[in-house]
Amino acid sequence: MANGVKKIVILPGDGIGPEVMAQSIKLMKAFEEPLGLTFEFDEHDFGGACLEKHGVPMQPRTLESCKKADAVLLGAVGDPKYDDSPPEKRPERALLDLRAGLGVYCNLRPIRLYDALLHASTLKNIVVRNIDMLVVRELTGGLYFGEPSGIKKHKDGHRSATNTMTYSEDEIRRIAVKAFEFARRRRLKVTSVDKANVLAVSQLWRAVVDEVATSFEDVELEHMLVDNCAMQLIRNPRQFDVILTANLFGDILSDEASMLTGSIGMLPSASIGDSIPLYEPVHGSAPDIAGQNKANPIAMLISAAMLLKYTCDRPLAAVSIEDAVATILSRGLHTQDINLKKGTVIGTAEIGQHIIDEALHSFCDTIMAS
Ligand code: IPM
Ligand code: MG
Repeated sequence: MANGVKKIVILPGDGIGPEVMAQSIKLMKAFEEPLGLTFEFDEHDFGGACLEKHGVPMQPRTLESCKKADAVLLGAVGDPKYDDSPPEKRPERALLDLRAGLGVYCNLRPIRLYDALLHASTLKNIVVRNIDMLVVRELTGGLYFGEPSGIKKHKDGHRSATNTMTYSEDEIRRIAVKAFEFARRRRLKVTSVDKANVLAVSQLWRAVVDEVATSFEDVELEHMLVDNCAMQLIRNPRQFDVILTANLFGDILSDEASMLTGSIGMLPSASIGDSIPLYEPVHGSAPDIAGQNKANPIAMLISAAMLLKYTCDRPLAAVSIEDAVATILSRGLHTQDINLKKGTVIGTAEIGQHIIDEALHSFCDTIMAS
């Protein structure tokens, strides 16, 4: 097998970020030999951890290193200490600048419920069993980045605040194309989610998605209003295959969808654009449990699996990691967020090690059998 060196920038970030990241690094090191790959890890402070040391959420040299890497792996950002800070002095700024700087406009958030976690979903088993959808969230435009933005104090002392939702047709077209392409590898259905009954941006979104659809006649397209989508995710989540949506709607709907899977600690993501991809769990920094070996590392481990699949072109390794997660969960080994008194609660490092051992084992079996 070809021996390749892959440069991976590691951004552990804040809260539980460093401890879940430690599991992904262990996983990737364990796979180096069987995959014939060498990972060169380059770690940088990021978010609150970077503000603390360097006074800025991200150092310019960090973005430069990311641009020269093969991929970026990120833990989580956010620290309540900075809740009252201005936007440029908040940990989240680092994440937004990184996404924009890498141009990763397409955020893929697969939502899958493992059978062994049926008990952990807040919905009835018959509603959530076998859900398998992909949220394709636009990540570098919309309300997060539109200008003008900010809080203004007027002469009379009165304050007002502005954010701008704006999308160009090119931004809509490129994310729509991605959603249709991913639908072709799945169940051939795209649900494009917007607020076209009110927002001009959504009316353009709908028109451009319709244009793109003419090149993908084998893929079924439906349009859905975002409020209805929030309801349909709870009413009948199995109707969805690919959900295509804008930045803010995707942020909200993916957190909602995460609860179908039992815990937000289960959701990985990959963000792709025209150059360097970024892999990160959907969850935040969970400061309340940070540093206690309680966090669920599965979202972070599967984010690393997505890196192996997309950046290293090793889909079998990714499958073996997902299968290992299923196996360990079915043995009743859980972190506290997904347990609900159904199994044995173990720590971040312990569940991580079980999954890594199982994944290596099943990967080597698969290779031997092929
Ligand atoms: C996410 C997060 C981020 C976002 C925050 C931390 C800026 O919620 O990745 O979903 O809103 O995109
Ligand atoms: Mg979010």
